[in-house]
Amino acid sequence: MSGRGDVALSENLLVTCGLPYANGRAHIGHLRTYIPADAYVRMLRKQGKNPLFVCGSDTHGTPIVINAEQEGVSPEELVNRYHAHFLEVFEAMGVCFDYFGSTHSPTNHHRTHEIVKANMENGYIYPKNIKLAYCPECERFLPDRYVEGICPSCGAVARGDECDQGCGIHLEPGEILEPVCKVCGTPAEYREQEHYFFRLSAFEHFLLEYLDGLDGTPYAINYAKEWVRRGLKDWCITRNLEWGVSFPGRDDLVVYVWVDAPIGYISFTEEWCEQHGRDWKDFWIRNGKIVHFIGGDIVYHHCIFWPALLRGAGYNLPSAVVASGMVKIEDKTFSKSRGYVVWVSEDYLNAGFHPDLLRYYLLSYTSHTKELNFSWELFAEKVNGELLASLGNFIHRVLTFTHRHFGDVPSGEVDEEILERISSIIDDMVEANSRYEFKQMCDAAMSLADFANTYFQKSEPWRLIKTDRQACAHVLKNCLQLCKALAVLFEPVMPHKMEQVWAMLGLSGSVHDAKLEDALVEVPAGTHIKAPKVLFERIEDEKVKMLERAMRERIKAAMEGKKVQEGEISYEEFSKMDLRIGKVIRAERVKGASKLLRLEVDVGDSVRQIVAGIANTYEPEELVGREVVVVVNLKPAKIFGIESQGMVLAADVDGTAVLLSPMHEVGAGVRVR
Ligand code: MSP
Ligand code: ZN
Repeated sequence: MSGRGDVALSENLLVTCGLPYANGRAHIGHLRTYIPADAYVRMLRKQGKNPLFVCGSDTHGTPIVINAEQEGVSPEELVNRYHAHFLEVFEAMGVCFDYFGSTHSPTNHHRTHEIVKANMENGYIYPKNIKLAYCPECERFLPDRYVEGICPSCGAVARGDECDQGCGIHLEPGEILEPVCKVCGTPAEYREQEHYFFRLSAFEHFLLEYLDGLDGTPYAINYAKEWVRRGLKDWCITRNLEWGVSFPGRDDLVVYVWVDAPIGYISFTEEWCEQHGRDWKDFWIRNGKIVHFIGGDIVYHHCIFWPALLRGAGYNLPSAVVASGMVKIEDKTFSKSRGYVVWVSEDYLNAGFHPDLLRYYLLSYTSHTKELNFSWELFAEKVNGELLASLGNFIHRVLTFTHRHFGDVPSGEVDEEILERISSIIDDMVEANSRYEFKQMCDAAMSLADFANTYFQKSEPWRLIKTDRQACAHVLKNCLQLCKALAVLFEPVMPHKMEQVWAMLGLSGSVHDAKLEDALVEVPAGTHIKAPKVLFERIEDEKVKMLERAMRERIKAAMEGKKVQEGEISYEEFSKMDLRIGKVIRAERVKGASKLLRLEVDVGDSVRQIVAGIANTYEPEELVGREVVVVVNLKPAKIFGIESQGMVLAADVDGTAVLLSPMHEVGAGVRVR
């Protein structure tokens, strides 16, 4: 990603995007943050403005640690892998950040420490003893996703920090009901420990005033105001985790990922400035203008928590928060686990689609603040019906005609009416962009293509060429100007395709560097026009059908996978368990483990040594001679240094084990089914 330090950043304007979690692949939901932001920045550059555009990987938090554990790699390795993946996707999709950093960088660790310390000095961070979920089996506290239980607000199954299947509420440590350890399934207990809190409640007044003046998407800002009016709770900002940014002065705690993640915006600015001889304070301390692009799911963090954290440390505040509506797939809520997802590389790019088609779809489908529905059918409809039928058609006809009948761009003046039309569409586009209405921006550009088609059609150059070559040349001169204008105006939306148009027009330099007013600058007469290549290809029905089928299959597979995950097993799986009646022939206490008994159990063909946590319920003597149910083919495990070669089944009565036994004696070794 090229640096542009050579150009002065006139207004200290910074544009950022919500940082992708570096623990999974890029999907089209992500792109609804990155592509509009990229188009916005390209449009500003076309207006001669010069924003700095930064983003980076969000590398901390429990999901990353858990995913890394599951894959058997270090968090660092996992994060590096997905960091590289996102870089590739951005490159392919034409999302051109000036800088793409990582929240794991030394700069970000340092900046996080500074901001936390400043907030502490100003009295906005304080210690407090709280009760936290603790797993007695794993002997550790269970932060965020390490614990699962019941949402106290809606009763749905929730994870420690968020009710993501139910009401979506943010959960503070200790709030989840009936917590269970995600790693080993043991019911967690609550233990007290000192943690640190951010005094969000102290910022209510400030936030209401601040949100009143905040620019961006009004619906998100109004939501935020409503949340503030309902009252804010302080946030616990420390976690028992090893991966993350350490909390200053406490080696055993790291800061909550939502502290160091947005601070990444500052660190990436610092890192870019370091490389380009600039001062990051121009953006973050003095008079910067900061615009955050995010999805509607993280409005709370960006409109409430983040400004308060900045304010508490004496930094500049964001001047705009631009929040998109969420992406849906076939009108269903986006869900990786349910299969309602479209992966950018695997599903989209690998199917051979050009990146610009998806850029156009995402930008022009609907208003930025509304939900955006994606389906392959709708995608094909938009590409075939708009890009091919209007834009592609016009450019192709004009270039083909010019090539065939003139070879070069004719001389002569472009009509004033044409230039005025272009000019007024530029105004509309600038205005739409400033309101973050990218659909209106696309529609304005597309209306120029429609106008151009109509003009070509009604001017009938194919007739004129036979009767009045001069008049025909004049029509084409106008049309070629419209082609150039379309290339310039559509560049923020479809940068690669418009670069192709630029080249086909024989123009020098790059359309990426062209300014909006270049749309009005004449295409030089005498420029040679070659036979054009087709700009957009039709997406055939068969291809749509094939992609839809693949999606169906994934959803079906996910459904079946889900059932397995939710604990549904087949009879075949059940029958893998070798359950037999065993007769206890010896029982004794295990020294140093008050809950455990060591049993010797006759299971018919052998005698098994089994360690069982039943010493609270039974005296060893009373068990000898009793028949119990034994899982015979359980993988042996060492418990308290003793090998346990099976398991006896018991009812779990509020943590007390009550052994199962047959209603009358049946003999050791009898199968249980
Ligand atoms: N890491 C956090 C953001 C931290 S910002 C300091 C995060 N990561 S994410 O990978 O889940 O999302 C990255 C961006 O994509 C965010 O702006 C998020 O809002 C957006 N989207 C992710 N899924 C989305 C949809 N299904 N629809 C629209 N945008 C969504 O959140
Ligand atoms: Zn556990």
